This record gives sequence, C-alpha cells and structure tokens, in this order.
Amino acid sequence: MIARSQRLRRCQLAVPGSSDKMMAKAASLDVDHVFLDLEDAVAPAAKVPARAQIVQALNTLDWGRSIRCVRVNDLDTHYAYEDIITVVEGAGANLDTIMVPKVKSACDVRFVDRLLSQIEGKLGLKRRIGIEVLIEEAEAIMRVEEIAGASDRLEALIFGMGDYSASQGIDPRAISGDTGYPGDIWHYARYKMIVAARTYGLDAIDGPFVNFKDQDYFRVECIRALQLGAVGKWAIHPSQVAIAQEAFSPSQTEVDRAYKAVAAYREAQGQGLGAIQVDGQMVDVATVRLVQRIIDRAELAGIKPTADI
Ligand code: COA
Ligand code: MG
Repeated sequence: MIARSQRLRRCQLAVPGSSDKMMAKAASLDVDHVFLDLEDAVAPAAKVPARAQIVQALNTLDWGRSIRCVRVNDLDTHYAYEDIITVVEGAGANLDTIMVPKVKSACDVRFVDRLLSQIEGKLGLKRRIGIEVLIEEAEAIMRVEEIAGASDRLEALIFGMGDYSASQGIDPRAISGDTGYPGDIWHYARYKMIVAARTYGLDAIDGPFVNFKDQDYFRVECIRALQLGAVGKWAIHPSQVAIAQEAFSPSQTEVDRAYKAVAAYREAQGQGLGAIQVDGQMVDVATVRLVQRIIDRAELAGIKPTADI
C-alpha cells in the first residue's frame, strides 16, 4: 500500500457553487473539506455563471484550514472541460483538488490529469492540484481497481450511493429500507471501493445522507463506513459536519489504548517476545498493525495520547 494522501477528510461539505451565501457560510465553518459544486446542486441555467462565483469565492473568502475542492460536471457533458479550465485558470493557486463525478474508467481520470498538467504548466503553478473521483456508476465499480491506479494525482475515492443505485437499477423502495432487503444494500460496492482505495493509498469517503434532520441515522452511516475503512463522509448541511468529524476521529480512550499497546509491544520485542498481554488482551505484530490506523488518524486530527500512558 502506498500512503499517498495526508489530508484530513473526516467530513466533506457539499456547497452549491451558485449560492454566494452558502459558500460564505461554508468558509466560516470548522470543516475539514469543502467542495463547491457545479454539478447536481446547480441548475443548468446557473452552471456557467456559477464558475465565476466559485472563482470569486475561492479567491476572496478565508477558507481557514478547509481543503478547497471544486466538483465539476461529468465528462459526458459539454460543461466539464470549461468547468476545469475556468476554475483552475481563475483560482488555481487557491484550490487544492478537483472532484470528478461519474467516472467510468481510468481514461476519465487521465483526461483530467492531462488537462490539469497543461493548465498548471501555462500558469506556472507551484502546487499540483489533486483529483478526487466519485464512484457512482456500475462501470466504476466494475473497474474500480484500474480507476484507483490511474493517476498519481488521485487522493480520494468517494462512494456516491444515490447515483450508484440508479445506475445499478436498485429498487428505490429497498434504499429506504421498506422491502426487507437484509443487511446493507450498498455493502458490496462500499467494500469493493474501499479495498481499491486502500490498495492505492487513497482516502475512501462515504457519500451523502440526504435526510439531514435524522442525525442519529447519519451517525450510524458514518460508523458503518468507518468500520470498513472509510476516513470520512459527506455532509450536505452544516448540521452534519460536527457529527461526521466526531465519528471519524478516534476517541481519547482508543488513542490511549493504541499507544499503550504499541509501547508495550516495542518493549516486549526488546526482550525477545512476540506476543504479550496488555489489559487482558493479546497483543502481537498484527494487533500493532491494526491499531496503527488509530494512531495515524489521531496524528492527522491532532489528537495526542494522554501524558501518563
Ligand atoms: N453549505 C453551506 N451552508 C448551508 C448549506 C450547505 N450545504 N446548507 C444549508 N446552509 C445554510 C443555509 O444557507 C442557512 O444559512 P443561514 O442560517 O445563514 O440562513 C443555514 O445553513 C441553515 O440552513 P437550513 O435553513 O436548515 O436549510 P436550507 O433550506 O437553507 O438548505 C438544502 C437545505 C438541502 C437546500 C441545503 O442544505 C443544500 O443546498 N445542501 C447542499 C446540496 C448539495 O450540494 N447537493 C449536491 C451534493 S449531494
Ligand atoms: Mg452523483
């Protein structure tokens, strides 16, 4: 596994690029990642003017610690190439990543990669702009391994369950849980995408939960994705941000336990032991590997172990 992305993406907030008000609000929030949308949140008549609104917002608002991302329209539309050119030429120095929806193959990712290289070359940009892609077409799940390995600009794969369900032809009643389908209807797709993301060192992100008034179920969805290996989830409304950021942060107890296990294991290794007991649980090299994920996430989120462990 290549550890590629070192950015904090516990929550990615979707913000319509046609709304100056919502973009200003998003900039004022304490959120890991914000994506200014040109795709589904923006009506066709507003798509072209929204490019300039986004450029203005990126160049003039204070985005604090948030990763600044723009979601362009999908590559089958006539908007996509001008979305990328206008936004990167207008605000490339104030932009971290481009998000590409509905990718279907590695070629889609390479197209965006080449276009970005040309624009960066023309502008003499010092920082490379990253790419995040939405895995939300049946073709994308089929080819997720080749997509994940398509470009060294890739930082994240996002599972978009709404479009994915439409693409696969999933019964809409099953999505809202009233046909008795057992278990998680998206389990296979989520699982497969996360395996590909982890293989290439990419961040795996879970997509939106639209019933934003149901905070309890949103938390359940966060934990589900976290348990499989995702590092974050989308928010479509500010009220979801803190819930996701908390759900995807390891708790102080988990962090302390992880550091304690690693320290005890290192000490035991020095004495020639391979497996030891820490607080009634067996710890060996595999356990240390497992808890390393907690330590990595804690470091990225700035959570330190308590002093006396
Ligand atoms: N980003 C930034 N600010 C947002 C926001 C978002 N995604 N969603 C709501 N807000 C703001 C509102 O403007 C409002 O601000 P105010 O208090 O200064 O007036 C405040 O948060 C409370 O919003 P609320 O009144 O509860 O909701 P709303 O009716 O204004 O908006 C939605 C509801 C669903 C239309 C809105 O949340 C939205 O557009 N979400 C994003 C949709 C999207 O991007 N979809 C594509 C990806 S799935
Ligand atoms: Mg979509």
